[in-house]
Amino acid sequence: MRKTVDDKIYLGLMSGTSLDAIDAVAVTFEPGFRLLATNTLPLNEGLRTQILSLTLPGNNEIDQLGELDKQLGELFAECANQLITDGNIDRSRIMAIGSHGQTIRHRPSARRPFTLQIGDPNVIAENTGITVVADFRRRDMAVGGQGAPLVPAFHQAMFRSPQRDRVILNLGGIANITTLPADAHSLVRGYDTGPANILMDAWIQHCRQHAYDRNGAWAASGKLRPDLLGRMLQHPFFDLPAPKSTGREDFNLAWLQQILAADSYPDADIQATLCELTATSVAKAIESEKLVSPELILCGGGAYNAHLAARLQELLPKCLITDTSHYGLSPTWVEATAFAWLAKQTMGHLPGNLPAVTGAREARVLGGIYPGRMGR
Ligand SMILES: Nc1ncnc2c1ncn2[C@@H]1O[C@H](COP(=O)(O)OP(=O)(O)OP(=O)(O)O)[C@@H](O)[C@H]1O
Ligand SMILES: [Mg+2]
Repeated sequence: MRKTVDDKIYLGLMSGTSLDAIDAVAVTFEPGFRLLATNTLPLNEGLRTQILSLTLPGNNEIDQLGELDKQLGELFAECANQLITDGNIDRSRIMAIGSHGQTIRHRPSARRPFTLQIGDPNVIAENTGITVVADFRRRDMAVGGQGAPLVPAFHQAMFRSPQRDRVILNLGGIANITTLPADAHSLVRGYDTGPANILMDAWIQHCRQHAYDRNGAWAASGKLRPDLLGRMLQHPFFDLPAPKSTGREDFNLAWLQQILAADSYPDADIQATLCELTATSVAKAIESEKLVSPELILCGGGAYNAHLAARLQELLPKCLITDTSHYGLSPTWVEATAFAWLAKQTMGHLPGNLPAVTGAREARVLGGIYPGRMGR
């Protein structure tokens, strides 16, 4: 029997903690996924600085937030419109845009936990004419969850295999894992393991004015400093039990500089140690899961960091390390595709969170729906 192919198109918009760029995809699902077009809009230095200033407490935050919310909404819409035009996407087939927004504060452990993503979905809906689904995380928090990570449900739907245990490792600003046991009765787990690129980016920007450490070459040139690594690993986040999630509030340049104040090391050694911090915290998390020689599938920009991948392989000799391009989706586009899928879930009145992952009391249909022009 011929399987019917669903030709409905969903767009995904993602701008993560690394503050590198807005990533956009146009994708169809069912069966699996098919990427029709992609687009990237880099964030310029001025905008990055403005966003950064809102990630930690400061002055006149409400005015700044209000304007940036609008400005980012305009940029997200521009990125989506470019994607549609350059990719020759038929607008009439687009069901919705899933927009993650830009996180400016994530406090899952506050007395009243909250998380805040900006990039006004009203503006995106108005400037594209397309229905937008946004504000996914706060519904999960309202039902007792961490609001993060939300990508594991997508990982489960797309990458689970009955043949072999798998782990998806997303190396964005923050690292998060999703365990996909081959046994269908075992629960999928997922949580943030700690920083991925956030500190390596901050350190190379501070010392060498490069946006990031290409292929981890600078880290590879330095020497790992076990005493420094030990001090970094004292951060309480690493010993917290799951469910757990983190962000710039926990790991930032000020935190690193405070640790570095005790001793002096060559800059490259610090980069090598930061890379090891990611590898060690990820490896420790994976080892704590009951999985049999899992296949470790990398995604996110950090999947291109060859030194980090080599360190992971050494620390996890039983894992077969690969990346999502092996399964037809480049590491760069996984997160944006996940938010296109989350929009599809919401439009279909289906849940998007996994309670075993976020700690929510129950699964929920996530996000708010902002109708496009003429209600579509
Ligand atoms: N060739 C490369 N070598 C090393 N690192 C790279 C390379 N390409 C990208 N990166 C890293 O990936 C980062 C961007 O990754 P990505 O866009 O997945 O993160 P993000 O925007 O924080 O997303 P999220 O928080 O949603 O996971 C860059 O800031 C950089 O550190
Ligand atoms: Mg990014």
